[in-house]
Amino acid sequence: MSATARKKAPNAQDIRARKGGEPLVSLTAYTTPMARLMDDHCDFVLVGDSVGMVLHGLESTLGVTMEMMVMHGQAVARGLESAMMVIDMPFASYEHSPSEAFRNAARLMSQTSAGAVKLEGGVEMAETIRFLVKRGIPVMAHIGLTPQSVNTLGGYKVQGREEQAEAVLEDARAVAEAGAFSVVLEKVPQKLADQITGEIAIPTIGIGASAGCDGQILVVDDMVGFFTAFKPKFVKRYAELGPLAEAAIAEYAAEVRARTFPADEHVFSDQAPTKGPKT
Ligand code: KIV
Repeated sequence: MSATARKKAPNAQDIRARKGGEPLVSLTAYTTPMARLMDDHCDFVLVGDSVGMVLHGLESTLGVTMEMMVMHGQAVARGLESAMMVIDMPFASYEHSPSEAFRNAARLMSQTSAGAVKLEGGVEMAETIRFLVKRGIPVMAHIGLTPQSVNTLGGYKVQGREEQAEAVLEDARAVAEAGAFSVVLEKVPQKLADQITGEIAIPTIGIGASAGCDGQILVVDDMVGFFTAFKPKFVKRYAELGPLAEAAIAEYAAEVRARTFPADEHVFSDQAPTKGPKT
């Protein structure tokens, strides 16, 4: 798409209005170049706290800080023009009180120019969501598997099977009633995801949920094959860039050791050229 033909980035109200319409497309991003690649293809881009595991090698998202989110948020913002940017509130930045959540959400939005924040939790976070929304901060909720609660959930398990289903449904109703403009459903059974999507008035964004959700999100490094430490069942690998990059690195290493890189075309003569391309 040319610069002049670019669409204006949607805001939270535009995303909210897509309920029941054409599926919303979203990916995570943490860097400017990756954000640029997805800008024309996504409705919104999430600066996810998954950055801790994907780019920083952490074992969970619990060690992600406000400073990390601000830094990656600023980088992603530089790569986006047409897609909305949503940014994750990291662990321990919003759970303690609505006013602390407001201070941190306001900082994320003002320092990164994100259009909304995302936070994890259902019924227990409804009061905070209401508090933020009333004060001008659009909130995307995240229920089902909430990775920041991995220690109380006992692992990265499917949430909402059998007798647990009602609790996840209650979470969905609570965040919608509190004013969230959309909600991520992570790792919930397909049937329950479809039921929630049919019942609540805001768009559901599935990750390991159902094609019937109002939109989908994946971690970009998972779907292009850069993050290879493990592959959740819900990830589809659209490319295998990790092995490709490793093969390129191995070839470079072999050529350096064999002194075949750099070749003549990569080095400079001792005389400045008079005409022609820069050498
Ligand atoms: O942090 C993240 O990447 C997320 C998505 C998996 C939804 O929260």
